[in-house]
Amino acid sequence: MPPLLLYAFILFTVALVLYTVSVWSERYQKRLKVWHLVVFGLGVVIDMAATWLTIEFVGAVVFTPHAIFGFTSLFLMALHFVWAVAVYIGDRDAGKRQFHRFSILVWSIWLLSYTTGLVSGMQRII
Ligand code: HEM
Repeated sequence: MPPLLLYAFILFTVALVLYTVSVWSERYQKRLKVWHLVVFGLGVVIDMAATWLTIEFVGAVVFTPHAIFGFTSLFLMALHFVWAVAVYIGDRDAGKRQFHRFSILVWSIWLLSYTTGLVSGMQRII
C-alpha cells in the first residue's frame, strides 16, 4: 500500500476505535458524559485528517461510490458530534432519547463507509 494511503488507513482505524468506544459506552452507560464527547471529538478530527491524507493521495477530489460514501459519512459524523454537544448542553430527556436511537444508525453508516474504503484500499495493493 502506498505510504500516504497507509497513514490514512491507520488514522481511519484510530477514528473507528474512538467513534465506536464513544457511541457504545454512551449506549451502555445510558448517559452522555464529557469523556464520550472528548473521545468523539478526537475521532472526528482524526477522521478529517485521514480524509485529507486520502485527498492528497488521490491528488484530486474524485467521486467513486466509496468517495461519495466517505464524504457523506464524514459530514454525518461531524453533525452527529454537534448534536451530541447540543444534547449534552441542552440536558433535555426527549432529546437524549432520540439521540440514543439515532446514534447507532449514524455510526452504522460510518462503518459501512469504512468497509467500502477497505475494499477500495485493498484493490490498490492487489
Ligand atoms: C469512514 C472512514 C472513511 C472515510 C470518511 C473516507 C473518506 C474518503 C473520501 C472523502 C474519499 C475521496 C477522496 C478524494 O476525492 O480525493 C476517499 C477515497 C478513498 N478512500 Fe476512503 N474513507 C474512509 C475509509 C477508508 C479506508 C479504511 C480506506 C482503506 C485504505 C480508504 C481508502 C480510500 C481510497 C483508496 C480512496 C480513493 C478513491 C477510491 O478508490 O474509491 N478509505 N475516502
